Amino acid sequence: MIKSKGTKSPEQSKVIKTEIVCPNDTNPMGILQGGQLVQWMDIAAAVCAQTHAEKICVTASIDKARFFAPARVGDIIHLEAVITCAFTSSMEIYVKANKQTIGQPHKHLIGDTLLTFVAIDDQGNPASVFKIKPTNKEEQQRYEEAKSRRSGRK
Ligand SMILES: CC(C)(COP(=O)(O)OP(=O)(O)OC[C@H]1O[C@@H](n2cnc3c(N)ncnc32)[C@H](O)[C@@H]1OP(=O)(O)O)[C@@H](O)C(=O)NCCC(=O)NCCS
Repeated sequence: MIKSKGTKSPEQSKVIKTEIVCPNDTNPMGILQGGQLVQWMDIAAAVCAQTHAEKICVTASIDKARFFAPARVGDIIHLEAVITCAFTSSMEIYVKANKQTIGQPHKHLIGDTLLTFVAIDDQGNPASVFKIKPTNKEEQQRYEEAKSRRSGRK
């Protein structure tokens, strides 16, 4: 039986990660590869999960990565990872990616995904994590949606 811990807010583990699209990250058209974007998302989400759990965490699943618009060589990619809900040893993390083209004032959403991470102990077994305490309406909505997605997955 895994013993539960206290609570934390999503803000306490929010991660902002910035990348620049280099030629090695693209396909022959010079467009950012989807797999590269997912790798950056996975890293941002792992930092978020591990900061929340204060433990090593592994990726258990990546749900429905969506790509809305292309990014090209030289674009700056801003990734934001935030925990939506924590269960016993698992946590759902939402990651969105915006691109910024140098010389243009606005950022554009290019993709997002949901990942589930599981905290593990020194023996590699699932370990308990802090619960989430939403502190505003947006966090509360994400929290409720995550709970219903988990029921759906089960
Ligand atoms: C993730 C992992 C630690 C789960 O171990 P397990 O022995 O199956 O653990 P359990 O069945 O007891 O489940 C533990 C938790 O993981 C969750 N979980 C397990 N598989 C999952 C999946 N595919 N998607 C989402 N959650 C999952 C369970 O719901 C449970 O959550 P809870 O404790 O919050 O209720 C194990 O499957 C693993 O090590 N996988 C490989 C991880 C990895 O190497 N990732 C890198 C990519 S290759």
